[in-house]
Amino acid sequence: MKILFVGDIVSRPGRRVLEKHLKSLQKKHDIDFTIVNAENAAHGKGLTPKIFNQIIGFGADVITLGNHAYAKEEIFEIINDEKIVRPINLTTSKMGKGYRLFKVLDKTILVGNVCGEAFMHNVDPDPFIASLEFVNAKADIKIMDLHGEATAEKVAYMHYFKNDFTAILGTHTHVQTADEDIFNGCAYISDVGMSGPYESVIGRDIDEVISRFVGNEQTYYTVSKNEAVLCAVVIEIDEKTNRASKIERIQIRP
Ligand code: FE2
Repeated sequence: MKILFVGDIVSRPGRRVLEKHLKSLQKKHDIDFTIVNAENAAHGKGLTPKIFNQIIGFGADVITLGNHAYAKEEIFEIINDEKIVRPINLTTSKMGKGYRLFKVLDKTILVGNVCGEAFMHNVDPDPFIASLEFVNAKADIKIMDLHGEATAEKVAYMHYFKNDFTAILGTHTHVQTADEDIFNGCAYISDVGMSGPYESVIGRDIDEVISRFVGNEQTYYTVSKNEAVLCAVVIEIDEKTNRASKIERIQIRP
């Protein structure tokens, strides 16, 4: 079983790069199931029904979200869709589901989404307590999208849950880390990285962000229009043990 996980799609450049590469990546790596984090897909924050359909149309099997899950009001029109998984532990809404079960080949795959607590707003309970529900749920394979800011929190989370989950994949920072590995049969990376404007400040317009840091100016954090990088990982899962045997990092720069 091979699973592709694509990191945070940022706005139109991210959607474009996904459309450009997804089908060929699925073919090249013989992918059985594709998860896409799309919490920044609509103008840099949130998701709309139109963009949800677009990303599913490109070939995603399930979309995960993050701290901006409810940034666009239209999300409530699709939040109960069986292909959307929102964070288990955001206090802003309890609509939709924090994990969902999928049948792929002869296996059941549970896909979850949890927010880290460090430097993040509206998160309660913390990801460790919030994920106990996911531990107790029944499935052959369990994949958690760990949407968090701090690497220490993410690494600690992985060691706490490595025997329970098949993969723990970090999202949110938009910067791909090079620490992918298998720990006791659990595939891990601190951050998959974003699929969004490459020459940018984590997806945002460079000059605008600098004017905020240097000139203390009020900004809207406009999304950069530059060409996008695509960041993803491919996970291989042993058919007999249901444990991860390999994780491969992918980064396609413009
Ligand atoms: Fe985020």
